[in-house]
Amino acid sequence: MELYLDSANVVELKQLSLIIPLAGVTTNPSIIAASKIALWDVLPRLQEAVGKEGRLFAQVMGCNAATMIAQGKKLSERIPGIVVKIPVTAEGLVAIKQLNALGILTLGTAVYSPAQGLLAALAGAKYVAPYVNRVDVQGGDGIKTIQELKKLLDLHAPQSKILAASVKTLRQALDCLLAGCESITLPLDIIQQLIGIPSAATAIYEFKHDSNQVPSRLNVIN
Ligand code: E4P
Repeated sequence: MELYLDSANVVELKQLSLIIPLAGVTTNPSIIAASKIALWDVLPRLQEAVGKEGRLFAQVMGCNAATMIAQGKKLSERIPGIVVKIPVTAEGLVAIKQLNALGILTLGTAVYSPAQGLLAALAGAKYVAPYVNRVDVQGGDGIKTIQELKKLLDLHAPQSKILAASVKTLRQALDCLLAGCESITLPLDIIQQLIGIPSAATAIYEFKHDSNQVPSRLNVIN
């Protein structure tokens, strides 16, 4: 499976990469804006941080196919290997199809329904990103969306992968993985929750406390 950090913070990305095997980093226009660094400055830094094997995702901002295609080409020229995120609208599907024909990797984003995700995959998107929490917030069922999309892709577009996005709780993250998502992007706080189990810290504290109750010569490792 592929685990991504959903962030444009290069420091966070580098620190986290030392601890867990990240597959790369995902961004969107809101995430880039929050970084307060210009797009063409931050993308190369993120690319350098993920390394040759890692993937960087960046999103187009146009609403019509021609603009999305032009921006996708520009992203791909300036950052070779980048995965271009395209919102899955009618115009977006045209852009995915054409960029795919040019050999540019795409991800269909802003996916709120299994059918929408399937269409992105059929158009040639390498990744499809259902928005788990945003579906929940509007009264839907984000995990059910993932489960149904997974079945649809397995049956009809097995070349595409689900990249679960808009994940806001550890439970949502685990349910996405249990549903068989091949990849997932998580914000830093959820990855920190994955790593830092409070009960483990308590257990370690107790081991140290018990160890300190006897002279160190009895239990020191050397
Ligand atoms: C991926 O990069 C998506 O754009 C992102 O996970 C969406 O998450 P949000 O609901 O926090 O905007």
